[in-house]
Amino acid sequence: MNLVSPSILSCDFLNIEPDLKNFESMKDIWMHLDIMDGHFVPNLTFGPPIIKLLCSKFQIPMDAHLMVTNPKWHIEEMKDYGLHNITFHLEAVDNSLELVRLAKQSYPSVGISIKPKTEVSALSLELLKEIDLVLVMSVEPGFGGQGFIDNSLEKIKELDSIRKEKSLGFQIQVDGGVNAENAKIIRSAGADNLVAGSFIFKNLPQDYEKSVQLLRS
Ligand code: DX5
Ligand code: ZN
Repeated sequence: MNLVSPSILSCDFLNIEPDLKNFESMKDIWMHLDIMDGHFVPNLTFGPPIIKLLCSKFQIPMDAHLMVTNPKWHIEEMKDYGLHNITFHLEAVDNSLELVRLAKQSYPSVGISIKPKTEVSALSLELLKEIDLVLVMSVEPGFGGQGFIDNSLEKIKELDSIRKEKSLGFQIQVDGGVNAENAKIIRSAGADNLVAGSFIFKNLPQDYEKSVQLLRS
């Protein structure tokens, strides 16, 4: 898998529809929606009404990254929107397996995210068997434009070797500080899905496709 997930955190919010339309013709794209509640992370973005509109406007698989204290509420609230993937943070819940099972009833793909200081060993084998995706945060969640934390590579490798050893099917997504310089090494470590905000949206719209290709090559 060689997915790229542009994070709309860095898009042109005053021209969001034409801005995101640029990705509809590209293959293997997920649109990454960073949902922040001003509590789990200090920053605040957007919530269900905006997500619902985005899901109805674009022919692109929508990928929700919940950086919220109460992900169960969002998972229940947004279950009929047509989101492709929903990811919540391991650190936000007491019983992650229970919430994964609930989310699996409504979403085609369900992921769990770990923050930079959370070890891979915090993800139980039981959990890894049931989820579709692990999101490795390679920056502290909350803001775009930060630098990639290098020890994330070890976590990606560790997850990849568990996946191989146990013949599991989850994909590995990496989020934060991804750019053309580090994309190859992140993929070589085992990542299948690279989230990128500032690296893509710092360009003019006519160069978005080129920047996506740079993350794949
Ligand atoms: C940060 C978000 C990221 C962010 C990445 O908390 O989860 O998705 O948009 O931005 P860049 O690619 O600029 O690091
Ligand atoms: Zn994100």
